[in-house]
Amino acid sequence: MPTWYESQVIKDLMPILGARAVRGIETNFFLSRIYTGKSALLKVARYLEAGINKEKRRALIITDSFTKKFVKNIEEYLKLIDMNYKVWSGVLPEVPFPTIDEGAKVCEEYNPKILIAIGGGSVMDTAKMILVKYEKPEQNLFMILPSIGAALGLRKKIKYLIAIPTTAGTGSEVATAALITDTSRDPPKKIEVVHEELLADITILDPEFIKDLPPFLTMATGLDALAHAMGSFTTNWGNPYFDATNKATIQEIIKYLPRSYKYGGRDMEARSHMQVASTLAAFGSYGNQAPGINHALGHSFGKIFSIHHGIAVSLFLSYGITFKAKVTERWMQLCPIFGLTLENKSRDESLKEFIHSLKNFIHSVDGPTCVKDIKEPKISKEEYFGKIDKLADYAMNDAVTLTSYRPINEELYRKIFEYAWDGEFIDF
Ligand SMILES: [Fe+2]
Repeated sequence: MPTWYESQVIKDLMPILGARAVRGIETNFFLSRIYTGKSALLKVARYLEAGINKEKRRALIITDSFTKKFVKNIEEYLKLIDMNYKVWSGVLPEVPFPTIDEGAKVCEEYNPKILIAIGGGSVMDTAKMILVKYEKPEQNLFMILPSIGAALGLRKKIKYLIAIPTTAGTGSEVATAALITDTSRDPPKKIEVVHEELLADITILDPEFIKDLPPFLTMATGLDALAHAMGSFTTNWGNPYFDATNKATIQEIIKYLPRSYKYGGRDMEARSHMQVASTLAAFGSYGNQAPGINHALGHSFGKIFSIHHGIAVSLFLSYGITFKAKVTERWMQLCPIFGLTLENKSRDESLKEFIHSLKNFIHSVDGPTCVKDIKEPKISKEEYFGKIDKLADYAMNDAVTLTSYRPINEELYRKIFEYAWDGEFIDF
């Protein structure tokens, strides 16, 4: 079954809605209550204690098999306020449909008042979908429409959805979107579900939860955050709120990601800055506007070749920005962050220099910027070009494509994929 955003009417209407003038009619601002730092858990515990009667204090803790170990970090606080709890650790990567039904069934049996999601993007997104399935079992997930008069009516059973991220990058905790996988398609396809009621009510940013994030995940999730902030800054869906946060976020990532990648838990200052930056990046992109077509390219590529989301979307970041540069100068505002001046240079020279600096930064944390340089898994040229039609088709039908700053079609997507094989500069 196609999703709402795969219909032609929606595809035709979205570019009009993306115009900054039209966005003045509907420019919303959705954000979770965010508690940061060492006192966050205690403050939230006291908040729950005051807001929920003792007999109704039941929390379902949602994790995957890896993040289950973090339950011990919050147990003490749950006991402090007499909160009953149950742990369900059935989340799987990429959120396949059957896991959502399974989690909703656990809710039916346990009847929780609170959902606590501890983990990365998949855990957060599973929790959001469980919330929908539990509260509205009849809701068709393919037809959840964001915004404009389409309320879902959630929070009749669940009072709070609480997000505790254990990665610094996806920012799903402050995003109104959830990425899930339709396993009935072959190959399975990523589906974006977007609605403001999916937003977590409370987010806890405690650096202890990301202290031991391994170097690869530090790099991949940090680059995802960079792709959110830069991709979204260079679209026409923003407004001054998000322009400001996205610029600050890019500065933070340029400064702290290399440190966080290199020193890990030995540099908690960098860890903490990356945690806040990634949350801001998501807030300024998926949370409230659009992350740019590098996310459509990356979603398609990541799914077909099983590449980590952060690696895939950051690989395509420079191509997305160069493609948009034909119709916007917004990238120029980011040059100073990379230490570049625009004086005495042609526009073309400046753009090339900017893209070069961006790629250098990604290389500095061992991220790839072209397909042939990916080390794991190694993709052969033959295999890649053999799947290029599918890549273009998936990217074209990705929800993010609806918000492309510059009109795009399957042929142009195919061309971008071709150029991305060996890092050719987009010249069309
Ligand atoms: Fe992302």
